[in-house]
Amino acid sequence: MSNGKVVSLYEVSKQYRRGAETVHALRDVTLDIAAGEYVAIAGHSGSGKTTLLNLIGCLDRPTSGRIAVDGHELRVAGEKELNRLRQTAVGFVFQQFFLIPTLTVIENVQLPALFTGRKVDKRARELLELVGLSKRMHHLPGQLSGGEMQRVAVARSLINSPPILLADEPTGNLDSRNADMIIELFETLNRDGMTVVLVTHNLDLVKRCGRAVYIEDGMVKV
Ligand SMILES: Nc1ncnc2c1ncn2[C@@H]1O[C@H](COP(=O)(O)OP(=O)(O)O)[C@@H](O)[C@H]1O
Ligand SMILES: [Mg+2]
Repeated sequence: MSNGKVVSLYEVSKQYRRGAETVHALRDVTLDIAAGEYVAIAGHSGSGKTTLLNLIGCLDRPTSGRIAVDGHELRVAGEKELNRLRQTAVGFVFQQFFLIPTLTVIENVQLPALFTGRKVDKRARELLELVGLSKRMHHLPGQLSGGEMQRVAVARSLINSPPILLADEPTGNLDSRNADMIIELFETLNRDGMTVVLVTHNLDLVKRCGRAVYIEDGMVKV
């Protein structure tokens, strides 16, 4: 992998087994993402968007092909290195927020740093300031609106200062006003140098990204 690319996929395929059936979720996907890009991954439901994002985020391995993330070739990475990359190279934001209901807002934000052993109290406070939730840091997720919960999730995704932010339909459960706040947050982060990969089937959001990659039936449309 060379200069400036933070994500590189070469002829990547992913198959799932469903009983006797083989599902071809991705077929020969070749894709490069440069540092600082803001890329939309768009396509219909079932086209392979989540599969693609999960592979970039080291949550899963491809059936075939090569992937490099933040300069690391995943094929040669052991479980330990894959784990480390998952924690430090990428931040993940999901449609369903996935906050821990029994932890406070600031504890949720600090959670991904627990395994790194670093002190992150100050950074957690700064991130909550960035997402406009300083006043809520000792609340529980259940006391927040959906939009606020997603802003906590964005702060959490940034706690280990990853160079890449991956978001899978992050506005799918939000009304348009809250969706807008999340998208503006991504735009601010991107302006400050963060590489952002946004999975969405909302064409209005696609238009706001720097580049759009369309997936259809597991393939990148050209
Ligand atoms: N764990 C799995 N086991 C079997 N099939 C799966 C699994 N995850 C996804 N799929 C299938 O792979 C295809 C792509 O799914 P997905 O990547 O979730 O698409 P999208 O995010 O675009 O809706 C779909 O046909 C889906 O049913
Ligand atoms: Mg999906």
